[in-house]
Amino acid sequence: MKEKKEIIARPDKKIYREGNTVVKMFGTSYSKADILNEALNHARVEETGLKIPQLLGVSIVEGRWSITTEWIEGRTMQEVMDENPERLPELMEQFVDLQLTVHKQRAPLLNKLKDKLNRQISSLKEELDATGRYELHTRIEGMPRHNKVLHGDFNPSNIIVQEDGTCYILDWSHATQGNGSADAGRTYLLFSLQDEKIADLYLDVYCRKADTARQYVQQWLPIVAAAQLTKHRPEETEVLKKWADVFEYQ
Ligand SMILES: Nc1ncnc2c1ncn2[C@@H]1O[C@H](COP(=O)(O)OP(=O)(O)OP(=O)(O)O)[C@@H](O)[C@H]1O
Ligand SMILES: [Mg+2]
Repeated sequence: MKEKKEIIARPDKKIYREGNTVVKMFGTSYSKADILNEALNHARVEETGLKIPQLLGVSIVEGRWSITTEWIEGRTMQEVMDENPERLPELMEQFVDLQLTVHKQRAPLLNKLKDKLNRQISSLKEELDATGRYELHTRIEGMPRHNKVLHGDFNPSNIIVQEDGTCYILDWSHATQGNGSADAGRTYLLFSLQDEKIADLYLDVYCRKADTARQYVQQWLPIVAAAQLTKHRPEETEVLKKWADVFEYQ
């Protein structure tokens, strides 16, 4: 038997390394469909040829649904950023280049971002009133329709940097197809919840490299903030509700 080395242990998820594989074990809060959807998304993205760990199996381990992928040797880009703050500008360029490489791909069978966002917003009956939800649905419908592969949770902890600089992108549970600016809006939101300055640096680099107007990414912010409310993290609720208020942005 190969030794199991724990990477992450949360109440509802356990990730460990076993030989040259990584096993992600899900708790009962995940439905069978959630897990199969993550595996299917991963498989669809693997077909694009992007550098991502190979999906090796979906199974029941110790009574829990699990996804097994190839182990990628290296450190997360988050770790590299934290340990070398002076390298942040250079790493941010690399981070955005990677995101734009994802957006260049096409995977016509992935779920559509707009469908996912509309579903998420419809579920927020406690957090947003009918008027607020209506505004967000209308805004989604008004956004240009694109079909780029979107990671959906693109942040430095989902990137493994190898010794020679090669990067692998992990965690395709939120992958969809749609508008690249929405994906950038979500990344900006994730950075903002941690550090405003780093978020601003990200948005500058993204808009320059993608040749996109800041306002265009900003139009997605109320929508991606509302979507983040579905995670029900009490420490984020107040700020997300403000962001999701369309009228504050006009
Ligand atoms: N294939 C892999 N090779 C090396 N390390 C991995 C691999 N998969 C996961 N890891 C490590 O485990 C961490 C968490 O993995 P992952 O991002 O897939 O799960 P997660 O963040 O819990 O998912 P979610 O964002 O849905 O909560 C990564 O940041 C990375 O350090
Ligand atoms: Mg992750």
